[in-house]
Amino acid sequence: MLEKSGYIGILFLLFTAVFALDGCDDGGLFADDEKKYRVGLSQCANDTYWRKQMNNSIKANATQSKTLEIIKITDGENSSSKQIQDIEDLIREKIDLLMVSPNEADSLSGIISAVYNMGIPVILIDRRVSSNQYTTFIGADNKEIGGKAADYLNLLGKDRTDILELHGQAGASAAQERSYGFNSKLDKSKNFRHTGDLYCNWSRSAAREAVTKFWEEGGRCNVIYSHNDDMAIGAWEALDSLGVNTDSITIIGTDGAAGEDGGIRAVVDGKIDVTFFYPDGNEEAIEYAEKILSGEKVPNYRRLGTVQIDRNNAEGLLGQMTMSRRQEDRIIAQNETIKSQSGEISGQRVWLVLISFGLLTFVVMFIITMRLYHKDRLHNVQLNEKNAEINAQKEELENQAIYLSQMNEQLRVSKENTLGSIRSAQTIQNALLPTEEDLNGYFNAFIIYSPKDIVSGDFYWYGSETSDNVSTFVLGVIDCTGHGVPGAFMSLIGINILDQIIKQYKITSPAEILERLNASIRTALKQEETENNDGMEAALCRIEIETQPDGVTKKYTLTYEGAKFPVYHYKKLEGKMEVYKTARREIGGKFRNIESSVCFEDHTVALSKGDRLYMSSDGIGDQNNFERKRYSSRRLVSAIQESFSLNMHEQRDYIWNDLKQFKGDCIQRDDITVMGIEIV
Ligand code: FRU
Repeated sequence: MLEKSGYIGILFLLFTAVFALDGCDDGGLFADDEKKYRVGLSQCANDTYWRKQMNNSIKANATQSKTLEIIKITDGENSSSKQIQDIEDLIREKIDLLMVSPNEADSLSGIISAVYNMGIPVILIDRRVSSNQYTTFIGADNKEIGGKAADYLNLLGKDRTDILELHGQAGASAAQERSYGFNSKLDKSKNFRHTGDLYCNWSRSAAREAVTKFWEEGGRCNVIYSHNDDMAIGAWEALDSLGVNTDSITIIGTDGAAGEDGGIRAVVDGKIDVTFFYPDGNEEAIEYAEKILSGEKVPNYRRLGTVQIDRNNAEGLLGQMTMSRRQEDRIIAQNETIKSQSGEISGQRVWLVLISFGLLTFVVMFIITMRLYHKDRLHNVQLNEKNAEINAQKEELENQAIYLSQMNEQLRVSKENTLGSIRSAQTIQNALLPTEEDLNGYFNAFIIYSPKDIVSGDFYWYGSETSDNVSTFVLGVIDCTGHGVPGAFMSLIGINILDQIIKQYKITSPAEILERLNASIRTALKQEETENNDGMEAALCRIEIETQPDGVTKKYTLTYEGAKFPVYHYKKLEGKMEVYKTARREIGGKFRNIESSVCFEDHTVALSKGDRLYMSSDGIGDQNNFERKRYSSRRLVSAIQESFSLNMHEQRDYIWNDLKQFKGDCIQRDDITVMGIEIV
């Protein structure tokens, strides 16, 4: 699946592709054409008919060029300073080549040299400059043209010798050369003379005025040699309007421009007698410019030819040239149309590109949206599947929860039943145990009796036998294997057997009681034949209180023995605690046979009034706390010692609280039984 950045990348590529495609055929979105060299044409003036046609032809020709374009044609207005400014402007417009018809040779030399020295090629057309710092000059030989005019005159009769010369701009090379060529070629033998020289600056109207004035002032001539057709026509107009018979005056022009207002038409119409075709060099100028700009070398002078146009050839030439001028006009018009169409086309291209881009964007967005939609759907399907799975699991869990709660309920009921049974068993067990009150008849006593699980594997036993002068008491603390229900069963067996031994057989010797208890347990539990090895640990005390012959004094004797459990004896008179160890063997249990070599033995100790005896199962000593330490029999002894000053009930509380404090919230590990007796 594409990431966002990937889509943006695609969009970018498409965008680039659109522009690249657009750029393949013609240079891109905003480029009309291939890059063309920029050519500027600086004209000395645009007022004469010949020059207007020159501009037209050059434009028409340039449109055929694949490598250059005429970016501007400037009008020097017959002013050299204006033309210098025009050239500077063209340079600012970054032209690649300058075409120039210099107004005056001297005045324009400086700027033209400067342009040339900037590395911009310069083509001089029709007029020269004083320096040779230009690339090439294209033009007809004006001296030759002037000479041809003289040749024409040389052939005429004697009545055509008084010459009025109409000059073009004095500083213009064309004017200077034509004048020189004409005058130097006049047949010296024919008495030619200048009756006037009028400077009319190439202008028809100026010539009209000047000739009118000349004539009105009495000036006369039979030849007018004009440096261009415009001035020649202006002269004819002046004479015609003065009512002069123009047939008596030979008018010679220069240029031979086609068109209704040009020199050829003037010849056809009989206004002027002859003119000399002055080629404008437009085709050659474009050809040379293309070559120069492509790096080709061109000659520094392209000489153009001339033709005499008189009544013999004027009409034919006019037809031909008019056709070619029309052709040029058509080309220019077509070019204009093409330009405006290409403007439209590039506008349309912009739209096309924008629409294409829009479409592509839409397609990409559509794809992205579809993919996202698809991804979402897939995601949803997966989610639904997951949900279904979760729901199934939830249902399963709910079923399990119901099952568990049913089981819990069953367990609760069963536990309650069991607890009920155990509590009943506890009642039974408690009923079989002596109470503190039973003991307190003869002693001050306390019993700490705390089963781990309601019923206990511990039990304590008490019985008494009285003869004339001796009262015998047997007391014991017995710990059966296990705790809870099995322990309790064992305790019932133990109680029953002790009852039998002591109460029925009147045996009070602790050692003998223990031996018989051992034998009876093994028999009762069939330990010889079975795997059963349950047994008991115990401490037993016999206390005999013998009344002396004086009937008052009493003698207290303790006989003790046990199976592993010691007997603690606090001797009040000495204020000290004795710990009496007992036999290192247990009662019952198959594997305990190995211990049967250890015999139970009675130990006898005298007691005094106020002495205290303590017996305990190992439950209290084995109780642990959170630090995994055992309460220990040593701590029990300490607790007993610390609380000697207290009465038996208080001492019980003291020991119990000490245990509770030690144990904290740790669970009780085993059944706990501690019995304390004070001889009173
Ligand atoms: C135009 C013009 C032409 C003439 C040429 C000479 O400015 O006067 O009529 O032949 O210049 O440079």
